[in-house]
Amino acid sequence: MKALQGIKILDFTHVQSGPTCTQLLAWFGADVIKLERPGIGDATRSQLRDIDNVDSLYFTMLNHNKKSITLNTKTAEGKKVLEDLIAKSDVMVENFSPGALDRMGFPWEYIQKLNDKIIVASIKGFGPGPYEDCKVYENIAQCTGGAAATTGFLDGPPLVTGAQIGDSGTGLHLALGIVTALFQREKTKKGQKVSASMQDGVINLCRVKLRDQQRLEKGPLTEYSQYGKGIPFGTSTPRAGNDSGGGQPGWILKCKGWENDPNSYVYFITQAPVWEKICKLINKLEWVNDKGYSTPASRLDKLTEIFETIEDWTKTKTKYEVTELCDPEGIPCGPILSMKEISEDQSLRDTGTIVEIDHPERGKYLSVGCPIKLSESPVDVERSPLLGEHNIEILQDLLGYNEDKINLIQSSGALGDK
Ligand code: COA
Repeated sequence: MKALQGIKILDFTHVQSGPTCTQLLAWFGADVIKLERPGIGDATRSQLRDIDNVDSLYFTMLNHNKKSITLNTKTAEGKKVLEDLIAKSDVMVENFSPGALDRMGFPWEYIQKLNDKIIVASIKGFGPGPYEDCKVYENIAQCTGGAAATTGFLDGPPLVTGAQIGDSGTGLHLALGIVTALFQREKTKKGQKVSASMQDGVINLCRVKLRDQQRLEKGPLTEYSQYGKGIPFGTSTPRAGNDSGGGQPGWILKCKGWENDPNSYVYFITQAPVWEKICKLINKLEWVNDKGYSTPASRLDKLTEIFETIEDWTKTKTKYEVTELCDPEGIPCGPILSMKEISEDQSLRDTGTIVEIDHPERGKYLSVGCPIKLSESPVDVERSPLLGEHNIEILQDLLGYNEDKINLIQSSGALGDK
């Protein structure tokens, strides 16, 4: 028994944002049918390929546990099949550029006529407003959602982050919208439209930066290291380097071997309740009772000196040694883990966060499993489908088409394998 068992999802998504959403729903047990353009499929199948003529890691890592049907929905036959798929589905998810579904002949009103219980979930770059017609990719969302302006160092340009907060982040938001709409449908027996914009998703994840924007209007942001350095604040939330975004100051500090290893660093938080333990550990006992250092407020204008002193200590230890010494004392810190270290971490394999998958064309590869663990709905990560792998199965078993009808559709070219 899986949480979403029996829920049928028509997955009209592509690239990253939409596919992450439907992949999550598939992991929770929904039957997800990915509808793709004949011959081409999701553009990511062929992007950033590491093996010639084999589905890329980009695609295989975003489309686990789905079935694939190819259908040209701009032909008369293709349209009819799409209508039948819509009639049989609980949810349709799409992330085409604005207006694409309407241009295809499937506006919301028509979809509702075909199935008034269906939930149509969409990701667009922007919500209604001046940019609503724009195409958007990850970094545009990061830039227009406040993330880039607040990421990086004060003396550098805006920076995008490696975490795909615009794509995968919005996919997560949409997944929550879909299951919420399914829950509401239990009572109303009606479908609805669910929309998530990438800009909104990034702004949601940048909430603390809007907090700081409003605090800035009342005075300097004393926990930012720029305050301690005496650098005046401007009118908008500045880039804060590696400063902690919360009320407990934190920095990234060098560890033993940093000269040759770009990831030999640790994130260290000088959490107020463990200040005395930190002082003991780094051999700075005089700071415990010194009025200039003993309270969080008294330390704010000295954070640079404090973290440089702690760094003198961390530089004598590996990032793992620092963590091992801090953990028992309750001092929050964490090593900077490289992707190589993460991919080799046995504990992440044990929990199913990093999984090894076998694919008929590419062989074994690593993927990220489901990051949300349900005790009553275990996840088995299965390989992504080949393009059109389930064409016949879907037409026959889901739509109940007989052989003659399937032959007719095939010979029309709507499936692309004429
Ligand atoms: N049969 C026939 N036509 C199909 C089809 C099918 N099975 N599947 C897709 N198409 C058509 C669409 O109808 C569209 O045609 P149109 O332009 O005539 O309306 C066309 O293929 C391409 O769709 P589009 O979404 O515009 O693709 P794109 O490659 O030009 O743009 C994005 C890609 C991601 C920029 C754009 O889809 C977008 O902005 N999406 C919303 C935001 C988003 O999710 N971005 C993040 C992606 S990670």
